[in-house]
Amino acid sequence: MNGRVPHIVQYQGSKRILAPQILQYMPYRFERLIEPFSGMAAISIAAAYEGRTDRFVINDINRPLIGMLQEAIEHPSRLAEGYRMVWEEQFQYGEDHVQHFYEIREKFNNGDVRPANMLYLLARCVKGAVRYGKNGNFNQSPDKRRHGTDPRTLAPNVHAVSHLLKGKSSFSAVDYHEILDMARPGDLVYMDPPYQGVTNVRDVRYVAGVPFDEFTRAVAALNKKSVAYLISYDGVCGGKAYGEELPQELHCKKILLNAGLSSQATLLGKRSTTFEALYISEALMPAFDMFPQQLSLLEVPT
Ligand SMILES: C[S@@+](CC[C@H](N)C(=O)[O-])C[C@H]1O[C@@H](n2cnc3c(N)ncnc32)[C@H](O)[C@@H]1O
Repeated sequence: MNGRVPHIVQYQGSKRILAPQILQYMPYRFERLIEPFSGMAAISIAAAYEGRTDRFVINDINRPLIGMLQEAIEHPSRLAEGYRMVWEEQFQYGEDHVQHFYEIREKFNNGDVRPANMLYLLARCVKGAVRYGKNGNFNQSPDKRRHGTDPRTLAPNVHAVSHLLKGKSSFSAVDYHEILDMARPGDLVYMDPPYQGVTNVRDVRYVAGVPFDEFTRAVAALNKKSVAYLISYDGVCGGKAYGEELPQELHCKKILLNAGLSSQATLLGKRSTTFEALYISEALMPAFDMFPQQLSLLEVPT
């Protein structure tokens, strides 16, 4: 499915590549897909592509990011044109095109969070890896070797994402608790909080972090309401585990998804595969009674 599923721009922690594996653990149809930590909404896009549901709740605490996603979905031509204009400006700077990035970044940090500016910063910054300083400012550097996605490549992708999600999605930029409160049986909640190790301290990788205990309490409340959910939470690379496990009392089934070769390890001259944990809620188990062989193949040995 990956080759044809559109995406807007790279985003740190995006589940675009893992989406086909994650979708295997969703029911074929459900009422709404709720993404409290949507990021670039890779899972909503993939679920819309597969026709799993017609309603999407897209939330991320990063308001300019959500503003950009909403614009992409509701006004794709306007965003593509705005992006083209910002992107082309950099060529007026000749060799010094990174200076243009710094100027847009400064404007953005001074409140000009227009969707085209957000998109340009994401497209031009190092590895799509957003970084925020203590004062909440976007402080990631530009990728000096690249100019960012060509608008002629970006525009058809934005239109394709819009085609999948327009008229079916609601957008918000609030803390995930508020979104979980509205979840009810029949919904499928997909949660991809920031990785641990960056969550219990101030999180430079995203605008906010998510403390472990607070998160597990919120998940327990979903169990109480019998809401079905999937959680991507930390992983294992080259035999080394990262982060704390979600507690047994949540009665989830933990699966490890193969996320391919670790680029970090490859850089260090090692070949290690990264695995990413996916927790399946109890409310989803009956749906999987039909596919026991699939689960037992992938279950984590205890
Ligand atoms: C790992 S990323 C999600 C990536 C996403 N699954 C994708 O495919 O692009 C985690 C996201 O959680 C958001 N976030 C952090 N703290 C949050 C909070 N308290 N409530 C809602 N979103 C939050 C961050 O802004 C970030 O975009």
